Amino acid sequence: MKKFDIITVIPDAVTPYTSASILGRAQEAEHIVINSHDLRTWTTDKHKTVDDTPYGGGAGMVMKVEPFDKAVNDLKGENARVVITSASGKTFTQEDAKRLAGYDQVIFLCGRYEGIDHRVEEHIADEALSIGNYVLTGGELPALVMIDAIARMVPGVVQAGSLETESHTTEGYKEHPQYTKPENYNEWIVPAVLLSGDHKKIAEWREEESKKK
Ligand SMILES: C[S@@+](CC[C@H](N)C(=O)[O-])C[C@H]1O[C@@H](n2cnc3c(N)ncnc32)[C@H](O)[C@@H]1O
Repeated sequence: MKKFDIITVIPDAVTPYTSASILGRAQEAEHIVINSHDLRTWTTDKHKTVDDTPYGGGAGMVMKVEPFDKAVNDLKGENARVVITSASGKTFTQEDAKRLAGYDQVIFLCGRYEGIDHRVEEHIADEALSIGNYVLTGGELPALVMIDAIARMVPGVVQAGSLETESHTTEGYKEHPQYTKPENYNEWIVPAVLLSGDHKKIAEWREEESKKK
């Protein structure tokens, strides 16, 4: 079973998504397990402090190295990969999803505020990943986005066959358009070839539409 661990200061914001729909069912079926952990568990002071002012001055607060270090030491198992979420990290792709699905455990470190003390990226994380060129308020959504994409690569999580023709399965590939009933909605008509029953023509049409995209 593949294990995902999310280290965050807002674990309650993460679990509604991970326990719903496909990810929820995949956990019930024991294909994957997703745990969210409160970073404050690994603090030692009575205020459970996870951040402090930046060295060199500047706005905002920076998340401390020690709680992340302790959390990873406690949680990291065999064949594990530690990913720090970072707006300045390498952009996550489908290739990364496939690669990370090869580990037994992936641990996500979620920043907040001005980000995480750089020593976490240098000494604790194995890699820094971004989900795109924009800045979010925290690493929780990026962790969920990446977990969702990685979990789809785990056998049993999505229907066999669903993955074969999906967009990005190979570099630059985009899936053909999909339609379902009714065949006429507001005079918006499903392409006739899809109703023809001619599997060769359907395959050719799909390939052509995929190339156009
Ligand atoms: C407000 S951001 C910090 C941004 C940081 N000061 C910068 O300029 O790069 C707080 C946290 O959100 C997460 N984050 C924000 N945008 C992200 C993105 N595009 N991809 C991955 N993580 C992101 C990271 O964990 C980051 O530490």
